[in-house]
Amino acid sequence: MEIKKVCVLGAGLMGNGIAQICAQAGYEVSLRDIEQRFVDGGMSTIKKNLEKGVKKGKMAQDEMDAILSRIKPTISLEEAATGADAVVEVIIEVMEVKKKVYTDLAKIVPAHCLFFTNTSGLSITELAAVTDRPEKFIGTHFFNPVPVMKLLEIIKGQQTSDQTLEIAKQWGKNLGKEVIIVDEAPAFAVNRILCPMINEAFYVLGEGVASAEDIDKGMVLGCNHPIGPLALADLVGLDTMLRVMEGMHKEMGDKYMPAPYLKKLVRAGKFGRKTGKGVYDYS
Ligand code: 3HC
Repeated sequence: MEIKKVCVLGAGLMGNGIAQICAQAGYEVSLRDIEQRFVDGGMSTIKKNLEKGVKKGKMAQDEMDAILSRIKPTISLEEAATGADAVVEVIIEVMEVKKKVYTDLAKIVPAHCLFFTNTSGLSITELAAVTDRPEKFIGTHFFNPVPVMKLLEIIKGQQTSDQTLEIAKQWGKNLGKEVIIVDEAPAFAVNRILCPMINEAFYVLGEGVASAEDIDKGMVLGCNHPIGPLALADLVGLDTMLRVMEGMHKEMGDKYMPAPYLKKLVRAGKFGRKTGKGVYDYS
């Protein structure tokens, strides 16, 4: 089976990046979100990213126009999913909300359509089990910022077929990503290691051991990380970070308890860059 049309559900931080790289790779893309303002926000980010590329001489204006013309923004699920060969679902990280979308999707998409869920840690197997095609269901975990980060982590659910895995791997390579294959497990491989490290930084900050600036400086200069863990949490979204830690805590016990200071910032509505405030102030 060849993928031609990709339907991306969710135009937020990750969704618009995925739509952009799909269109850059030549796929026909539909980008759907539940409200017009979210779709408009996603399209405007894609445009800004591509404009940067044109200004830097990395792509010609007509190339940018062609990429944009391959993306069809919409708030209609039916319009977005009709005729899709693959759906990349990048909606809110809440199991019940994701499950509901797959039930709706099954009534619209063709029988051959593959389901790719982009999640930071939810169970691929559990999501796949509510669909009419668990063998055509797989996890595709992109990293933020999607157009820049080289990795695509592909997660096999318990019922994912080898054929689905092969198609997903090829699709990832077509998008210009390096692919790693991971078996179903809480938070997969990368977030299983990364998120507890970031969570620990929130313990260190919350306990007053060091300032945010010094924690980040320590990890950048002492460990050669490109940015510090707290700045990275602001980039990824503190709400997302907390959901990953809550999931790991539930599945694997107290070793993974979310840091109280991380919870406090999320309760205050400080989600990081996307809300203008997180550990740092971006306003
Ligand atoms: N969208 C698109 N492109 C972006 C971008 C964004 N949000 N932010 C930066 N870029 C591009 C810039 O345009 C620039 O492109 P160029 O090389 O073509 O000129 C390039 O990235 C480098 O950007 P800058 O020079 O402005 O800044 P930096 O050198 O500081 O790089 C960074 C920015 C790439 C974000 C770097 O800080 C970095 O690598 N940070 C770590 C990112 C990381 O670890 N991500 C993974 C997070 S975990 C995750 O996503 C999983 C989730 O499930 C939790």
